[in-house]
Amino acid sequence: MAGSGTAHLRPERDLALAVDDLVVEFRVAGGTVHAVSGLHLDLLPGETLGILGESGCGKSSAGRALMQLPPPTSGTVRLGDTELTALSPRDMRRARARMQLVLQDPVSALNPRRRVGDIVVEGLEIWGWGDRDRARVVDELLTSVGLDPETVRDRRPHELSGGQCQRVAIARSLALDPDVLICDEPVSSLDVSVQAQILNLLERARERFELSMVFIAHDVAVVKNISDRVLVMYLGKTCEVLPSAALEASARHPYTRLLLDSVPSAADADRVPQPARAIELPSPLDPPSGCRFRTRCPLATERCAVEEPVLRELAPGQFVACHHAEPQGPA
Ligand SMILES: Nc1ncnc2c1ncn2[C@@H]1O[C@H](COP(=O)(O)OP(=O)(O)O)[C@@H](O)[C@H]1O
Ligand code: SF4
Ligand SMILES: [Mg+2]
Repeated sequence: MAGSGTAHLRPERDLALAVDDLVVEFRVAGGTVHAVSGLHLDLLPGETLGILGESGCGKSSAGRALMQLPPPTSGTVRLGDTELTALSPRDMRRARARMQLVLQDPVSALNPRRRVGDIVVEGLEIWGWGDRDRARVVDELLTSVGLDPETVRDRRPHELSGGQCQRVAIARSLALDPDVLICDEPVSSLDVSVQAQILNLLERARERFELSMVFIAHDVAVVKNISDRVLVMYLGKTCEVLPSAALEASARHPYTRLLLDSVPSAADADRVPQPARAIELPSPLDPPSGCRFRTRCPLATERCAVEEPVLRELAPGQFVACHHAEPQGPA
């Protein structure tokens, strides 16, 4: 099934990550789940791309397919110069060390029986130490994520808070000196006060370790805060790609606007919360024809049911897949 096109891809040759026509489908009893349908994306060195969408839109399926965990149904993923989909299992293990995944639930991502000092160097135990001193590497990694080695080195995950566990998981990812970090809702399970600390940590790690990041989340504020560019996804397809600085003021796709409008503003703080929109996500077993968003879209016309919209550049760096979105007029 076709995706929303490639208008948003950039001509640079030195990309950290290039994803071409990624399709992820799951065979289930009732048919085929179309989780990701023709996703194209690129990531420049040092850049953070946010992937934004409601729960069930295919974000995690896309993130895991980038890591080849499991490999996608079709499409290609290029990490630097390495085409991942063509690698032998052994070469894939080696390449995977260059791309690390940070997940939502840090506590269950860590082996409960191991001590923190052992967990952060798990990857190095597989790939070898070179001539490095183990104790020093452990302490450097823990310090780099804002943990006191003396205090946490010999503890087990259940003795730490959720935020501390996420710091340990990030340290473990950084140990292998990856080029790309895929963060799948890394702060969604944490208290709001801790979320900001972990976002700061990721931002500092990106600079210090010269990482590129794909940052997946359903929370507009979180994605906007950390990303350079945002890709908005609905039912497995790209709706809009735009600079994060333009997200609130200039987003043009009706789905992006819906996501933005459902964020409570400061002015709403003392109002009674409205029930969530009654219209549910259509089943990815049988997605709507034409534009997948049409069953919820206030602007939908007959054309939207028969013709799939592709991404068009409506403003510099802003690409929208919608038949009826127009460039913003003068204010
Ligand atoms: N292993 C699987 N088997 C069957 N369906 C799956 C599987 N993983 C995800 N899905 C379905 O694929 C769709 C996208 O899921 P997911 O990628 O987890 O979305 P998100 O991360 O945006 O919440 C959902 O309908 C989900 O139920
Ligand atoms: S293409 Fe049609 S249904 Fe889809 S977002 Fe645009 S107006 Fe809405
Ligand atoms: Mg998810």
